[in-house]
Amino acid sequence: MQDKTHLVDEITGHRRMRRNRKADWTRRLVQENRLTVDDLIWPIFIIPGTNIVEPIDAMPGVNRMTVDRAVEAAREAADLGIPALATFPNIEMELRDETGSNSLEANNLINHATAAIKKAVPNIGVITDVALDPFTSHGHDGILRDGEIVNDETVEQVARAAVLQADAGSDIIAPSEMMDGRVGAIRRALDAAGHQDVGIMSYATKFASAFYGPYREAISTGGLLKGDKKTYYIDPANGTEAVRDAALDVEEGADMLMVKPGLPYLDICWRLKEAFGLPTFAYQVSGEYTQIKAAAMHGWIDGERAMMETLLAFKRAGCDGILTYFAPEVARLLARKG
Ligand code: PBG
Repeated sequence: MQDKTHLVDEITGHRRMRRNRKADWTRRLVQENRLTVDDLIWPIFIIPGTNIVEPIDAMPGVNRMTVDRAVEAAREAADLGIPALATFPNIEMELRDETGSNSLEANNLINHATAAIKKAVPNIGVITDVALDPFTSHGHDGILRDGEIVNDETVEQVARAAVLQADAGSDIIAPSEMMDGRVGAIRRALDAAGHQDVGIMSYATKFASAFYGPYREAISTGGLLKGDKKTYYIDPANGTEAVRDAALDVEEGADMLMVKPGLPYLDICWRLKEAFGLPTFAYQVSGEYTQIKAAAMHGWIDGERAMMETLLAFKRAGCDGILTYFAPEVARLLARKG
């Protein structure tokens, strides 16, 4: 009878991949990518009022917080070593209108939060979105006119909103509304207002995705949204178009790029990093968070391992960091592991 060991030996020769995997210490030695607390950006949700922390049903473990409690969260995040927060407001329904005019109030909820956080915790970065969806009565990211999201008027408005956000202390403006020409317009507006040091992290490739569902509950836009966002977000089928879109943002002056959602678009992360070499971030969005949490709550998946595996996958795909609702949980876990 043929010796089976001999048979395998003939195939592998001296090549045995398992040698480097044989022990914990060899695995640690050859590990190519690592996740650290420096890779994390924590998105948080702000509500009006004081001293309220309320859970979001569709995002187990994630809360909406009033500004005073967000300041505490920021302090906690800074203590954990998390470099930056991304803030999203859930503003009163009465303040929402067709054009999202509250985005142009200097002391609106988002700017109030920024100022309070930067005053109390100056060393944490604050990244703010300028899309109009938290402020519009129809839930779209731009100004809606005769059934259309009008590009240029929206760009003018988000550029003005960006200056107000920078005035309030925002460190990085992150435009997520996908209007054409927005990055250049925001850069010019910031510079004209003396905010040369305020950066732009472009939501360069934002796809028309089903994974934003829980976020829309978090800021109460889900019920409002009429139609969909396909006339301005990218078709999930298109990779080359996404790279072209990012190229325009790079030309217009983006300092950093973002891919959103994250895990279904790792190929885009890799392509952007290869093409432009800019600091590149992935946004592990609400639906990505929720699917891991929900499965873990049922005992169908090891939530902690799944969390760490997805975050490491972003690093492997070339990302410099990740916006993730898991940020404080990961930071605590990493601190425990030393
Ligand atoms: C819209 C915006 C979205 C998210 C952040 N800002 C998407 C949307 O509602 O269309 C999604 C974030 C998430 O799902 O975690 N400007």
